[in-house]
Amino acid sequence: MKILLVAGARPNFVKIAPILHEMRKHPSLRPTLVHTGQHYDDALSSRFFADLDIPEPDVKLDVGSGSHAVQTAEILRRIEPVLDGVRPELLLVVGDVNSTLASALAAAKLGIRVGHVEAGLRSFDRAMPEEVNRLLVDAISDLLFLTEVSAWHNLLREGVALEKLHLVGNVMIDALQSCRDRWQRSDIGRRLGLAPRQRYAMLTLHRPSNVDSADSLAALLRPIAALAHEVPIILPVHPRVRPQMQRRDELVWRKTGSTAPMPSTGIVCIEPLGYLDCLALMSGAALVLTDSGGIQEETTILKVPCLTLRDTTERPVTVSHGTNQVIGTDPARIVREGTRALNSEAAVVAPPPLWDGRAAERIVRILLRQAEGGRTVDDRAAAHAIALAPRPAGAGSHEPGAPGHGAAA
Ligand code: UD1
Repeated sequence: MKILLVAGARPNFVKIAPILHEMRKHPSLRPTLVHTGQHYDDALSSRFFADLDIPEPDVKLDVGSGSHAVQTAEILRRIEPVLDGVRPELLLVVGDVNSTLASALAAAKLGIRVGHVEAGLRSFDRAMPEEVNRLLVDAISDLLFLTEVSAWHNLLREGVALEKLHLVGNVMIDALQSCRDRWQRSDIGRRLGLAPRQRYAMLTLHRPSNVDSADSLAALLRPIAALAHEVPIILPVHPRVRPQMQRRDELVWRKTGSTAPMPSTGIVCIEPLGYLDCLALMSGAALVLTDSGGIQEETTILKVPCLTLRDTTERPVTVSHGTNQVIGTDPARIVREGTRALNSEAAVVAPPPLWDGRAAERIVRILLRQAEGGRTVDDRAAAHAIALAPRPAGAGSHEPGAPGHGAAA
């Protein structure tokens, strides 16, 4: 079975790694890896390939940055001849970035089956570019691999046939688990000048709604700076945000490897982190503040308190089974919840069903069975049982606007 796997942006690389490693154990699967080049800086791309032990891509499209239309169109244009040349039985895409949408669309138009890993997540906020990508990719996919039960309900409500759904768990957690020994050995704390046992928080920001306008960014940084009177808040700066951040005097910039000790207060900006250093820093943090999707999932497994600076989450299981609270961007609420989280223990909860480090194994088993013309009833029966099981108290409903989706009161 020839399979074309596509990855383009930082979170894609994390998701593709465990799938590719699992496929390579089965000679009957012949994966070809395409890198679209949506992310191209070393810090966002080759560093992740090295950290995650991903082989050199078979094909590089080198599309680079651009508006949504330009980037999407350029990927469509450049991937079509690759799909035509390889003629895979399946195109496998992950996540919700522009590379995911463009490559799925090109394949669907050529009559090539599409598999989508991380299907069915919905924020119900179409102002998010990723939400549009999710809806469109799922609509043209033939195999939908789901990370959580909310996705199952979302897709059935959208009229997707039950036979296409496979609740398999979360490949992002596979990557976290399989690299655990390596990220636990990272010395990022020392390289940042953190004293042994020094408390700190971590912050990540890159959503256009939070960072593209100077006013929104300033409004968000003010309450976070107030929290930073208690602990230093370390902010690895995404290249998209760097120009806006460099104009702000209240931020301290720090080079990794500088010998000076970490300050005891303030927002401390650093270069983007590689995968292993990022997990290591996150796992030792007293609190994580973020607008990222993947970090809500990683903190769930690391049991680090997470405050999501958005009004919605497409990953409600991180609230019902994790440490995540969706608090929006109201300044008073950020200070209140941040202070509370810094001064209390995180509640220990059972991890989401199937987030056990074996999602890629399940995906590959399904692909192998399909290649043999077999049925996949076993997986679906198990998933169905989980999807229909009563939800734990406090779990988010899958209905838009329900607690767990919106900013919880
Ligand atoms: C993209 C994804 C987002 C994901 C994020 C992870 C879409 C619509 N967005 O957002 O879902 O959470 O990746 O990081 O696909 N840039 C560089 N170097 C790079 C790449 C980008 O400097 O290697 C800068 C460029 O100025 C570029 C900007 O970042 O214009 C935005 O890059 P882009 O890939 O379009 O979106 P992200 O914000 O990275």
